[in-house]
Amino acid sequence: MALTEDAHRLVQDHFTNKDKTLAIDATCGNGYDTEFLYALGFRKIYAFDVQKTAISAARKKLHADAMSVVEFVLAGHESMREFVREPVDCIMFNFGYLPTGDKNITTNAETSISALEGAKGLLKCGGALSLMCYPGHPAGALETQAIKDWFLSLGDDWSIETHLAKSPKPSAPILFLLKRANS
Ligand SMILES: C[S@@+](CC[C@H](N)C(=O)[O-])C[C@H]1O[C@@H](n2cnc3c(N)ncnc32)[C@H](O)[C@@H]1O
Repeated sequence: MALTEDAHRLVQDHFTNKDKTLAIDATCGNGYDTEFLYALGFRKIYAFDVQKTAISAARKKLHADAMSVVEFVLAGHESMREFVREPVDCIMFNFGYLPTGDKNITTNAETSISALEGAKGLLKCGGALSLMCYPGHPAGALETQAIKDWFLSLGDDWSIETHLAKSPKPSAPILFLLKRANS
């Protein structure tokens, strides 16, 4: 099973019998994670991406009924707090570049850490944050290290699960699931 599928399974397990009011797909891309969050039953979803082509692809992918739930935001996730004012149950990041698109348009350490700070401020107690990281390309390696360093800033109310690829090499994708304890 691919780690992206593990991310879906872990998020689904976490939210079984839990409130699913608001979610953020911080890297909408082709819309697989947005579609997953919609199918899981979140009542409102913000989906961020810096690329118009990604948002158009995601819009096409989703069922028409999802349009009343999903709000697409053509902006960097580092500005999520300008768009989202209310506490959030779940935030998913799938870092990197669109496999089908311009590989130069990729997430990077500086804006990703800024976005994670925003996410930290928005996530409800009992909420979950999934981070799919790709250290196999240069920007992704720096970003993954910066994210691991950022974990040190999290308080005792956060737990971090690490999920490795089947054949873990330093360049293999890595998935983190962060949970914020109930207060
Ligand atoms: C690996 S893809 C995401 C895949 C997507 N979650 C899906 O299900 O198809 C990474 C996406 O991050 C987007 N991206 C890059 N920098 C970004 C930023 N600062 N804020 C939001 N999205 C960004 C890219 O445009 C790309 O679409």
